[in-house]
Amino acid sequence: MGAFLEIQDVFKSYFLHGKRIDVLRGVNVAIEKGELVSLVGASGSGKSTFLHVVGTLDAPAAGVMRFEGKSVFDMNDGEIAEFRNRTIGFVFQSHYLLPEFTAAENVAMPAMIRRQDNGAALTRARELLDRVGLRDRADHRPGELSGGESQRVALARALMLQPALLLADEPTGNLDPSTGEGIHQLLREVNRELGITAVIVTHNETLAQSMPRRLRLKAGEVVAAG
Ligand SMILES: Nc1ncnc2c1ncn2[C@@H]1O[C@H](COP(=O)(O)OP(=O)(O)OP(=O)(O)O)[C@@H](O)[C@H]1O
Ligand SMILES: [Mg+2]
Repeated sequence: MGAFLEIQDVFKSYFLHGKRIDVLRGVNVAIEKGELVSLVGASGSGKSTFLHVVGTLDAPAAGVMRFEGKSVFDMNDGEIAEFRNRTIGFVFQSHYLLPEFTAAENVAMPAMIRRQDNGAALTRARELLDRVGLRDRADHRPGELSGGESQRVALARALMLQPALLLADEPTGNLDPSTGEGIHQLLREVNRELGITAVIVTHNETLAQSMPRRLRLKAGEVVAAG
């Protein structure tokens, strides 16, 4: 039995205006169940690209990813979508909240899409908003929230279905240092209390350093960060 998440020789390039940009150039990394990992790297180094591939939102050009021993990119599209819904919580670099719904409705959305009981979903959504410090903003729409508040709503939404794997792309990018530390504290708590394995992309070296395991994207590869 291999690791919880095993990534082997993953390559990913973009093609634009006749040019090829090689972003991931042979990524190898294994993550064990329950790990809390930070990922740093220069702007443009490929952190978001890596997270999108791991989150199965984008397919690699080559390489293998195994989740609990099962090769993810060998599954068909339907199976990959089901795997993603069941297993992964994603906090995007842009938060992608639905503008016409309130914060609580946005957080509850993954459960509603799965046709779970709406009332129960909204109750849980309010609990999660409470945890990210937004008890008083549950009935605001995204246009009535600050950038940092929107990011916290997106984190609450990613936690809604208790994913086995949480992938967060700069969840504290728009936050002041103290609110940012609060979110990292929350990530440590959900990691410890709910056993959620998490990979957190951040530009904040201090917060990255505070994570139990630190990785860096450099020259298209994932290496241990000092
Ligand atoms: N759809 C795309 N088409 C072409 N090039 C792209 C595309 N998406 C990203 N890139 C390029 O790929 C490289 C990696 O982008 P990526 O978004 O993964 O970087 P990042 O490490 O997340 O950066 P940041 O810290 O600024 O968010 C960048 O040079 C970017 O310009
Ligand atoms: Mg990015």
